[in-house]
Amino acid sequence: MGYILPEIYKSIVQNTNKQLPKIFIETGTYKGGVPHQIIEKTQTLDECFNHYYTIELSEDICKCASRRYKYIEEYNYNPPFNKLHTDELDESFKKSQSYFDNRLTLINGDSAIELKNVLENLNETACFWLDAHSGAQQYAKGNQDVPLLTELEHIKNHSIKNHIIAIDDAHLFGERQVNGRGEIVCDYTDVSYERVENKILEINPNYDIGIYTPYNMEMIIAFIP
Ligand SMILES: C[S@@+](CC[C@H](N)C(=O)[O-])C[C@H]1O[C@@H](n2cnc3c(N)ncnc32)[C@H](O)[C@@H]1O
Repeated sequence: MGYILPEIYKSIVQNTNKQLPKIFIETGTYKGGVPHQIIEKTQTLDECFNHYYTIELSEDICKCASRRYKYIEEYNYNPPFNKLHTDELDESFKKSQSYFDNRLTLINGDSAIELKNVLENLNETACFWLDAHSGAQQYAKGNQDVPLLTELEHIKNHSIKNHIIAIDDAHLFGERQVNGRGEIVCDYTDVSYERVENKILEINPNYDIGIYTPYNMEMIIAFIP
């Protein structure tokens, strides 16, 4: 589990003299994901992106994220810590909901499917944070432990070829993640670094693909220089 904050995207676009995309798309929300982290840090959603999409497989985890977003709305972006980090469930949550004057869309479903639907309505460059996978915590497990290669295939099929693509947990590529009892909780053996790299280069051979370790966790960031 990791997170990416806008500083990383900003430093990339500063180095390339390009503008930061205004759309952020996350796969694997957990209990709030990057939008939640940005609000916790800045008490606003204004710093970088105009619109956020975040996709989560587990309905209960969506209900928790939804409850957190609603507390943030109720407290005008500055809720007390116990509300910001609540594990309460919003039982009124429906499959897809918007928050913060329609600036954030939370979608319940498998990112291997739902990302395609989001991309169908996307007509500008976006920043992706691909972070959906099973794991040792109460993470959901879909048909694939790691839907990453399918997500990249959807991005490949999109008409825009210069999105910024960030991917968490690159240190697990090609490995099996086990819990304390030695049980496999997430199998990345089909998701090797080479396959990920090749898939990104199929989107656009001009991608610059780097491994970054901003928090002692390896992540991949691909952008067009
Ligand atoms: C590492 S956590 C996400 C953390 C979050 N992105 C952040 O930065 O705080 C991974 C999440 O992916 C979810 N997940 C697992 N398989 C998925 C799938 N096929 N589609 C969408 N979400 C999935 C898990 O339930 C879990 O909540």
